[in-house]
Amino acid sequence: MPQSTRAAANNPDAEQQQATSCDGLLARLQQRARGAVDAPPPCSLRVPIAAYTDPQRLQREVDRLIHRYPQVIGHATQIPEPGDALVYDWLGLPLVTLRDKAGAIATFLNVCRHRGMRLLQNEGQASVRSLVCPYHQWTYGLDGQLRNIPRAESFCDIDPADFNLVALPTEVRHGLIWVQATPGDHMDLDSHLAGLGRDFDDFQLGDYHFCRQSVKDIACNWKLVQDAFLDGYHVVRLHKKTVGPFFPDALAETSVHGRHIRSAVARNTLLDDLALAPEALDRRHHATFSYTLFPNMVLIFHPEYTSVISLFPQAPDRTLFVHNMLTPRAPASEQERDHFERSFELIDKGVFEAEDIFVSVGAQKGFASGANDSLLFGALEQPAVQFHQFVEAALGEG
Ligand code: FES
Ligand SMILES: [Fe+2]
Repeated sequence: MPQSTRAAANNPDAEQQQATSCDGLLARLQQRARGAVDAPPPCSLRVPIAAYTDPQRLQREVDRLIHRYPQVIGHATQIPEPGDALVYDWLGLPLVTLRDKAGAIATFLNVCRHRGMRLLQNEGQASVRSLVCPYHQWTYGLDGQLRNIPRAESFCDIDPADFNLVALPTEVRHGLIWVQATPGDHMDLDSHLAGLGRDFDDFQLGDYHFCRQSVKDIACNWKLVQDAFLDGYHVVRLHKKTVGPFFPDALAETSVHGRHIRSAVARNTLLDDLALAPEALDRRHHATFSYTLFPNMVLIFHPEYTSVISLFPQAPDRTLFVHNMLTPRAPASEQERDHFERSFELIDKGVFEAEDIFVSVGAQKGFASGANDSLLFGALEQPAVQFHQFVEAALGEG
């Protein structure tokens, strides 16, 4: 018996801890692989198709989930210098996240406070010395403060301090830039992460470096993509020509933290090294850990790099899929850059786009046909149903 399992058998607290730690999930995978623990019992669960097609529901999801929970919009190493900026409308709001002269990162509505003109026109990365409105050239500093009003004498009874850019709560944590997309809201990342920050520290996420990004406009509901990332059933089937051969069939364990779902999917190497104690296993090589961060994010710890995915709903059948690939360091040579590039192409295009997104879009296409009024999930897909239950609960909170 591995040491930690022995400890857990004598101590309910250790058992609880084991069940909710990464090592605990690895121990459960080993027990499953040895046949000491049964696979989850069969079940047939259903999610109504209206959850993926109803425009009013989508609006409630945006209002109550996307705008109320912290969102990851990028990585701090994307904007290393003062004036470096990210411009994006992904959240249904024109936003700019930028680094100021003191090195702090903040997010503002990309909207002039005079007569409302958009300040930075193009989405993507930018580098600016200040934000100058093209209309009448009101000028804002990198800290969002109004610095100059041309012909200021033509206005009366205004205090420039009332016309600074509107800021949104923003914080860098584990290297990721988190934004709360409702001005005036408070963002509490500690309570949001429900203890998972410790895992991210263990994975040394904060030391990772931005490598590549893709933004895909995909023709499906955002929750179909979450379903795909919470489903261990398809891995050796849908991915049989890409990453499937690295995994045994549907050997996965999950744990719930707040409304986040942590999954550990066994890799073949876990079966090869069954004699090792869970603490002796390498979390990136013996399993693939992924975190479905509620509501619309997925973090996947691949053996050599990390994928950070944010899903931004635009319509019931349209989602922006934003994938940032993080690497343990900035590439040290052209050779290493090529290696990271090839890895990105394989995972981003070969696996996510050609396989996971392909089936998500394929399912959405058939929704109007009348073939199904609900989708069926079995025991190997149960975490996806749990995710839908969390969505329902959060929508019910108003
Ligand atoms: S609208 Fe921006 S300066 Fe007038
Ligand atoms: Fe997949």
